[in-house]
Amino acid sequence: MFWIFFVLLVFSSGDCILIGKIDNNILIGNIYKSLWNITQSQCICEMINSNGALSTLNYFSTNQTCQLFYTSYSSILIEFSLNSSLIFLNQSAIFIAQNQITSTTSSSSISTLLSSSSTSTTTSSTSTTTSSSSSTTTSIAVRVWAATGNMAAPRYRHTASTLVNGQVLVAGGYNGSTYLNSVELYNSSTGTWTTTGNMSSARLAHTASVLTNTQVLVAGGYKGSNLNSAELYNLSTGTWTTTGNMSFARDSHAASILTNGQVLVMGGYSGGFLNSAELYNLSTGTWTTTGNMNFGRDAHTASTLANGQVLVTGGSNSNGSLNSAEVYNPSTGTWTTTGNMSSARYAHIASVLTNGQVLVTGGQGTGGAYLNSAELYDPSTGTWTTTGNMSFARSIHTASILANGQILVAGGYNGASYLNSAELYNPSTATWTTTGNMSSIRQYHTASILANGQILVTGGQANISTYLKSAELY
Ligand SMILES: *[C@@H]1O[C@H](CO)[C@@H](O)[C@H](O)[C@H]1NC(C)=O
Ligand SMILES: *[C@@H]1O[C@H](CO)[C@@H](O)[C@H](O)[C@H]1NC(C)=O
Ligand SMILES: *[C@@H]1O[C@H](CO)[C@@H](O)[C@H](O)[C@H]1NC(C)=O
Ligand SMILES: *[C@@H]1O[C@H](CO)[C@@H](O)[C@H](O)[C@H]1NC(C)=O
Ligand SMILES: *[C@@H]1O[C@H](CO)[C@@H](O)[C@H](O)[C@H]1NC(C)=O
Ligand SMILES: *[C@@H]1O[C@H](CO)[C@@H](O)[C@H](O)[C@H]1NC(C)=O
Ligand SMILES: *[C@@H]1O[C@H](CO)[C@@H](O)[C@H](O)[C@H]1NC(C)=O
Ligand SMILES: *[C@@H]1O[C@H](CO)[C@@H](O)[C@H](O)[C@H]1NC(C)=O
Ligand SMILES: *[C@@H]1O[C@H](CO)[C@@H](O)[C@H](O)[C@H]1NC(C)=O
Ligand SMILES: *[C@@H]1O[C@H](CO)[C@@H](O)[C@H](O)[C@H]1NC(C)=O
Ligand SMILES: *[C@@H]1O[C@H](CO)[C@@H](O)[C@H](O)[C@H]1NC(C)=O
Ligand SMILES: *[C@@H]1O[C@H](CO)[C@@H](O)[C@H](O)[C@H]1NC(C)=O
Repeated sequence: MFWIFFVLLVFSSGDCILIGKIDNNILIGNIYKSLWNITQSQCICEMINSNGALSTLNYFSTNQTCQLFYTSYSSILIEFSLNSSLIFLNQSAIFIAQNQITSTTSSSSISTLLSSSSTSTTTSSTSTTTSSSSSTTTSIAVRVWAATGNMAAPRYRHTASTLVNGQVLVAGGYNGSTYLNSVELYNSSTGTWTTTGNMSSARLAHTASVLTNTQVLVAGGYKGSNLNSAELYNLSTGTWTTTGNMSFARDSHAASILTNGQVLVMGGYSGGFLNSAELYNLSTGTWTTTGNMNFGRDAHTASTLANGQVLVTGGSNSNGSLNSAEVYNPSTGTWTTTGNMSSARYAHIASVLTNGQVLVTGGQGTGGAYLNSAELYDPSTGTWTTTGNMSFARSIHTASILANGQILVAGGYNGASYLNSAELYNPSTATWTTTGNMSSIRQYHTASILANGQILVTGGQANISTYLKSAELY
């Protein structure tokens, strides 16, 4: 018999888990209970005898009891916060992938990686040393996509806003036949949706901004024609009230909340590509125009930087996909061009990293080419540097910052297929690793960070005529 051992040991203030791989069978056990002594009936059997039904893969043994393990319909993912320990259990294709994660926790931890292979019959050979003090790492994070409650309505090009009470407010979009005015709230404790007050106008490709007074401002969009209207959602009453109109109707624009609480809305489309920008003042409920951007653009991104300025990147206009970027200074109300991205891109995503840099991912470049590239903006120099490529080209995907500082990118479209794939960017290594697939392929979906650190993905489009009401959690 041919044995292969791939053993990862993680110690963290009492929490530890041991994973081994023998042939194509993954073994999981508690370090205090030697894995090699656990019999098939106790643990391993659950995974290898599953014969098509993945439910039997949903268990792993720790202290000789089997425990329900987080899973999606088709995959199980276990991730450690070590640099080399992503183990993906796929019934038909078990493999060990490299994962680059760093984290810093102080207490009592050391990690050991043992990797060996031999042709011996049993495994008394592996030994492990554990030093009692160390500065390295180790929390164990279990990450996997799991289904959660469906929305009442299928929808794409909607918005999703995480509210101060932890709920997620999903508003508007399109269901395949109707522009939606309907709004739903997700309760992460129960994993269920409830409908709440309708917006006074149906809309898609609008923006939603959570204001400092906890109201949500929805602005612009499209429902057969472009909208200049805006409305406010009051969490206490669950109702919407219209507020001042923008000076310009617009969809596919962007919105950012400034440090003074005002909302800056910029660009978009309304029969032409807009370079205009306007500010919403909550006290007066009115909009005032501010400086124009240097370029009209839609499908761009806007990110509030640590210094309070707003970085706009890319987008498209009558010149096609744009490589330009510009920065809004709230104290002067003016825009200044900053370094060009190395690739023009629209329908991309920008994420502000914990180190203050801005990561842009994917989108469509010159000639509409679908991009797997990513680049980083350094606000202190105003310049871009390319970073690792994603495994998959994608546009109209989502990107979310996880609690560990990594960026989770999910779904989208690559020109040929809608995607269910997801991948993680590690800012410290500038590399991407694939992670578990979503249950559904999706584009024009949303991703929201929940208070518990999970990512809620909602809706989107699974093909040209299929609009999704499903949601899933990472
Ligand atoms: C396996 O179990 C036996 C009996 O409980 C014990 O004596 C032995 O030390 C265990 N071996 C390992 C490697 O834990
Ligand atoms: C493992 O043992 C601990 C302590 O006895 C217990 O709290 C825990 O529930 C057990 N875990 C499983 C999966 O049985
Ligand atoms: C993990 O990181 C350490 C320190 O950077 C390095 O020496 C080691 O080779 C890495 N292991 C793997 C499997 O990449
Ligand atoms: C599992 O592996 C099989 C065979 O490689 C592959 O077709 C399937 O897509 C994988 N499932 C997931 C969820 O990755
Ligand atoms: C879309 O919404 C409209 C209005 O609520 C409804 O009549 C229609 O059945 C919905 N279509 C789908 C595909 O859900
Ligand atoms: C979410 O559901 C739980 C359980 O029903 C409830 O206690 C909680 O109040 C709900 N959260 C909100 C914000 O309504
Ligand atoms: C919301 O609007 C839909 C039609 O778009 C309507 O069927 C429904 O009754 C409305 N709900 C409320 C609470 O007004
Ligand atoms: C929301 O509605 C409640 C109840 O009518 C009201 O007291 C509160 O002032 C409203 N909140 C805002 C921000 O207007
Ligand atoms: C906003 O604009 C719409 C037309 O787009 C108009 O019907 C409405 O009266 C305006 N509302 C306000 C408050 O000016
Ligand atoms: C919003 O309007 C109020 C009332 O005019 C004004 O006092 C306040 O300074 C404005 N806020 C900002 C950030 O301009
Ligand atoms: C298109 O590019 C030309 C040449 O760079 C420039 O003069 C023009 O302003 C651009 N148009 C738009 C809409 O950005
Ligand atoms: C940025 O790119 C544009 C063309 O898209 C070019 O005209 C401009 O000179 C570039 N700016 C810099 C600073 O390289």
